[in-house]
Amino acid sequence: MSDRLYIFDTTLRDGEQSPGCSMNIDEKMRVAHSLATLGVDIIEAGFPIASPGDFEAVHRIASEVQGPRIAALARAHPKDIERAAEAVKPAGDRARIHTFLATSPIHMEAKLRMTPDQVVERAVESVKQARNSVPEVEFSAEDAGRSDMDFLCRIVEATIAAGASVINIPDTVGYMTPDEFGSRMGELIQRVPNSDQAIFSVHCHNDLGLAVANSLAAVENGARQVECTINGLGERAGNAALEEIVMILRTRSDRYDIETGIDTTKIVPTSKLVSQITGMLIQPNKAIVGANAFAHESGIHQDGVLKHKKTYEIITPESVGWNTNRMVLGKHSGRAALKSRYETLGVTLDADQLGAVFERFKILADKKKDIFDEDLMVILSGDSEVNMERVKLISLHAASGTKDAPVAAVELEIDGEIHKATAQGDGPVDAAFQAIKSLVESNSTLLLYSVNAITSGTDAQGEVTVRLQDGDRIVNGQGSDTDIVVASAKALIAALNKLPNMHAREVHAQYSGV
Ligand code: KIV
Ligand code: ZN
Repeated sequence: MSDRLYIFDTTLRDGEQSPGCSMNIDEKMRVAHSLATLGVDIIEAGFPIASPGDFEAVHRIASEVQGPRIAALARAHPKDIERAAEAVKPAGDRARIHTFLATSPIHMEAKLRMTPDQVVERAVESVKQARNSVPEVEFSAEDAGRSDMDFLCRIVEATIAAGASVINIPDTVGYMTPDEFGSRMGELIQRVPNSDQAIFSVHCHNDLGLAVANSLAAVENGARQVECTINGLGERAGNAALEEIVMILRTRSDRYDIETGIDTTKIVPTSKLVSQITGMLIQPNKAIVGANAFAHESGIHQDGVLKHKKTYEIITPESVGWNTNRMVLGKHSGRAALKSRYETLGVTLDADQLGAVFERFKILADKKKDIFDEDLMVILSGDSEVNMERVKLISLHAASGTKDAPVAAVELEIDGEIHKATAQGDGPVDAAFQAIKSLVESNSTLLLYSVNAITSGTDAQGEVTVRLQDGDRIVNGQGSDTDIVVASAKALIAALNKLPNMHAREVHAQYSGV
């Protein structure tokens, strides 16, 4: 019988730590439901002590998401652990606390200013405290890759004895190479006397592009939990990409006789959902989930694939969820069909949400022939933002061409009042942005503007991502429409709505009447 590898998804915790990737609670709920449908074993839902919003997200995920275990991150501090325990409590016997403490000399000396003895003592106390409040405790030796091997063995043995049933060995700074990391894992399992009482886990960062290779090396040497993220999101260069780990194990089952519980046909829809919510576009040549991952351009390759797919394809696109996403519903379809389609995408809608989404679906179905799963996710995102909108787009008219300067006229509702402005710009999008900026006061600066055609055809919905920075805060806004200028205005407004320091401008006469 083949071994089982547990997939611990940390998109909502380490992934959310990527600059510009922060998600609101509704967005986290959608990702969490989709991860459950994908079949991950553990969802790391967040870091409850970090903010009330993080606490609330973990608590709601623990209350509402069925199936996977729900983990909350906590530093090895009593307050962190208390807060984490409270947040994951609704998950009952699926609740896990993931507590961590650094074990490398540089982290212990320079960051923690603690001696190795103090670190062991604190780790043991924390595991015991956590074990008194939840059924399952994971301990991570932060920066294990650069830790002294004897010390690592000592702390791992002590934390297992204190009640940790999962021991995570992170390569926190992405410094390891596969050979050395694999032997580190093997040696640890072999030397720690009580290692049979815990599952060993791996958590690799991608600073040198080795996160997946290092994770696999650890699996080859006995790790049975991999911590990873959708699309490889995560701190700095990111974490090991879930889709790559899972598809390597499956495609090379001749080498790895190890199974996961992942429904691989849900990989692409989940990847697109995460990309759309976070605004982190997927590079076209990204393995498994990139738009070109299955595109054959050269004539020789095309000829080969036509004759026999296996000449150049080691994975079928359908097996990871490509090409299975054409929406067969049309404008005559009913609510039940729409609801059921959302369920296959991992989204459960209550009656009110379904009503609102259904209205948007009908409007879109009137405008375009083919509705794809991506369209449905966009419809959904619009709906989830409705309640938080302080600024709403009432109307937009833009004109551009080869002769006259591009101009845009916008009408916005800001905190319940109607404001109008007209502005010129370096193109219709710029004109629309100038007009909006003349009405909305914000100190933010534009970090990113990107346009993506999310479906095919000239009637495709264009999806625009706008990233704004206001002080320390970085927010993303997405907008989609068959008209790219409207999509851009919606994206800017969605981002502005996420900034607390944003108001209606009192004077905007210099922009009007252009
Ligand atoms: O990279 C890391 O070491 C972490 C720990 C909290 C597991 O993210
Ligand atoms: Zn990490």
